[in-house]
Amino acid sequence: MRNLVEEIKKLKEEKKAVILAHSYQNIEVDRVADFVGDSLYLSRRAKDTDAEIIVFAGVYFMAQTAKIISPEKKVLLPNLNAGCLMADMINHEQMVKFKSQYPGIPVVCYINSTAEVKAECDICCTSSNALEIVKSLNTNRVLFVPDANLGKWVESKLSGVEVITYDGNCPVHNNITISDVKEARNKYPDAKILIHPECKPEVSMLGDYTGSTSGIFDYVKKHKDKKYVIVTEKGVVERLRRDYPDREFILIKNDMLCESMKLTTLEEIKYSLEHEINEITLDEEVRLKSASCIERMLKVSE
Ligand code: 13P
Ligand code: SF4
Repeated sequence: MRNLVEEIKKLKEEKKAVILAHSYQNIEVDRVADFVGDSLYLSRRAKDTDAEIIVFAGVYFMAQTAKIISPEKKVLLPNLNAGCLMADMINHEQMVKFKSQYPGIPVVCYINSTAEVKAECDICCTSSNALEIVKSLNTNRVLFVPDANLGKWVESKLSGVEVITYDGNCPVHNNITISDVKEARNKYPDAKILIHPECKPEVSMLGDYTGSTSGIFDYVKKHKDKKYVIVTEKGVVERLRRDYPDREFILIKNDMLCESMKLTTLEEIKYSLEHEINEITLDEEVRLKSASCIERMLKVSE
């Protein structure tokens, strides 16, 4: 593996490339990544970088978002099969139909969606800024696509705002139940429970902290507790164990695994960078419309 890592690093230098990796990726990807983090952090890095090529170790909508906001760069997704089950739950036609049922109501779009869906929305959000984005609209009714769980969690946190949600979710997070969390609370009474808001809102409410993957890392960094129950994808737990070997991290359920996120290998990263293949391309009209939705979010959430 050492050789492979060195070869990728050399290619990065030769080709002025940057590798962005989501924190659910196979952990060895971190050895070649320039930045590892959540969707918002990685979008910002995609926008800021002066690299000529962005290799996105993540899922399709993340690489597509990078291309939307950095159109002059070549964006590569090493494994084109890396999709997102939630993003696939709404297509352009379903989006247009949903919106037409509620004319005049602003539409917030979770970043886990395609460019065609984003192009129909007013503003984008991620799990780390969803509350801030909905608040920024200063309205008492919003449409929220595609994650019903995140939308309803936002509603529960804001008084006087009705969040009308599309019926999408992330099956990896949606599977967690109130009793899973209560059981963990009983079994590990001295542990802090950290939850991703893609879980059902009644689950998210039970956390000592509820927030994005980067938010969960920040929480651990700022606290001295020795034990944590983590309610999000496995990759977060693996990285926390690596970074804090003197603390204990318990994954709420062993099957909290996003298969798509695990598709990308170091070999594929090397191959796609070496041959500059698996490039993300976009229709320019769709790109422009979806860019305004993302740019608006980045402006509000600086
Ligand atoms: P984050 O933005 O918190 O990394 O979430 C992205 C995601 O897909 C979680 O399932
Ligand atoms: Fe999509 Fe869920 Fe995987 Fe996140 S964990 S990328 S929402 S399928």
